[in-house]
Amino acid sequence: MPINPLRTLHGKFTLSLSILIVIMMTGLSYWTISREKGLMEKSIIREGKSLVESFAISCTNTMLYEEIGLVEEGGLLDNYITDLIQRKDLHVVYAMILDPKGKALAHNSIMEVGNVYRDESAEKSITSWNTVLQYPSESILDISTPLAISTKRWGTLRIGISLDPLNREISGLIWKYIVYTAGFIIIAIAMVTLLSGVIIKPLRLLSREMDETKPGDDPPQLPSPRQDEIGTLQKSFHRLLKRVKEDEREKERTQRNLLQTEKMAAVGKLTAGVAHEINNPLGGLLNCIYHFKRGGQSPERQQEYLQLMEDGIKRIQKTVTNLLEYARTPRLERSATDFNSIVEKSLSLLDYPIRKNHIEVSKDISCQLPSIEVDRNQMAQVFVNIFLNAIQAMEEGGVLKIGARTLDERLIMTISDTGKGIREDALPKVFDPFFTTKGEGRGTGLGLWITQGIVERHGGTIQLSSQEGKGTTVEIQLPLPKK
Ligand SMILES: Nc1ncnc2c1ncn2[C@@H]1O[C@H](COP(=O)(O)OP(=O)(O)O)[C@@H](O)[C@H]1O
Ligand SMILES: [Mg+2]
Repeated sequence: MPINPLRTLHGKFTLSLSILIVIMMTGLSYWTISREKGLMEKSIIREGKSLVESFAISCTNTMLYEEIGLVEEGGLLDNYITDLIQRKDLHVVYAMILDPKGKALAHNSIMEVGNVYRDESAEKSITSWNTVLQYPSESILDISTPLAISTKRWGTLRIGISLDPLNREISGLIWKYIVYTAGFIIIAIAMVTLLSGVIIKPLRLLSREMDETKPGDDPPQLPSPRQDEIGTLQKSFHRLLKRVKEDEREKERTQRNLLQTEKMAAVGKLTAGVAHEINNPLGGLLNCIYHFKRGGQSPERQQEYLQLMEDGIKRIQKTVTNLLEYARTPRLERSATDFNSIVEKSLSLLDYPIRKNHIEVSKDISCQLPSIEVDRNQMAQVFVNIFLNAIQAMEEGGVLKIGARTLDERLIMTISDTGKGIREDALPKVFDPFFTTKGEGRGTGLGLWITQGIVERHGGTIQLSSQEGKGTTVEIQLPLPKK
């Protein structure tokens, strides 16, 4: 069965390593990027501030000189603004000098000169007596400083520095970390794949070996035992196989012994039965012979004795024939057989007694039964014996139910009747040879014994359950060929 790739060791290793790498790299990137960003921002602020403050000194001087008429108005301030805008180290996007009311005295864009700035950030710039840092938008750092000497103020120098290069550098860094993370994951997968070659491949080999080894097989030869944990596992598996094999042998030995004991017991029962079955009529025969020897009987009486002698000899003959029958057919001639046809054949043989006893036959046979490899004639004998017992138990009529189904590679057949049933104390003896409750001349007591022998030779089991006065059920289980 294919395993979900995420459930394999390989999959689990790869997944957990990837997650670990992503978490570690995200943490690391976050930390380094924010640190980097902070450092860069600080350096821009430092440089911007010192730039603005150094220009402010020149601007203040110029404005002071202008006021006292030492220099001409206008020209110098514009030069400073142009200088500021042309700085290469910082991206100055605007630079302006505002008078205390917010009016632009100089501006890098000529169109803005004379405009009055009254927005919130301009207000803050022109009123503060210190250098002010502001972020009017995400990508602009606004730095302003007063142009003043002591309490005398001429205006404010204000510049805007673009933060775009910084942001670009940061997103470049983020991308770099994403690429690193992906690279690490690829390396991790490659490493896990390599490792799985070293760890998982021998495990797979061992697992295949386990699958292919059947209980009782000799342990396969170890190629070259490894010196690691997998080697230990291999050795344990081989020890387990050895133990299983030993257990198997022990079980076989015990079973053989048990079988021998059972056989001896069966032979004992059989001998006792045969002795009884033959001794009884022999006694009768001897009795008749004794009377004949004495002589003096009427011809009618003699005729009666002769009849009794014939009956006795016939009984002995029947017993011996039955025994021979059983002894003669120990070999099975198996052929693929359809269960239904055996049942039909056996029922047709018993057509007369079934009708005579007014018995209703009901069949519940699964139509998907596979054909079974059995000895057809012997199996028919099994069914005839069981049906006959059922018919004989239903002298006043009843229902004979025949069912068959498959379960876990076994064919299960049940035959039940609504006859007089079996007394509880007789139930354990019904499979014994010569056990019968049917009286002289009617039953031989060999039917179920023979039946059990045939079923067991087919590798099956037979069980009988019964309730006195209600009926009897016989269940036969036969193994089905493995697919
Ligand atoms: N279906 C049945 N209903 C009642 N009794 C049964 C049934 N099958 C078997 N028996 C009992 O088991 C005994 C042994 O059966 P069997 O071995 O077939 O010998 P027999 O039929 O010659 O007596 C029967 O004598 C009977 O008492
Ligand atoms: Mg019988």
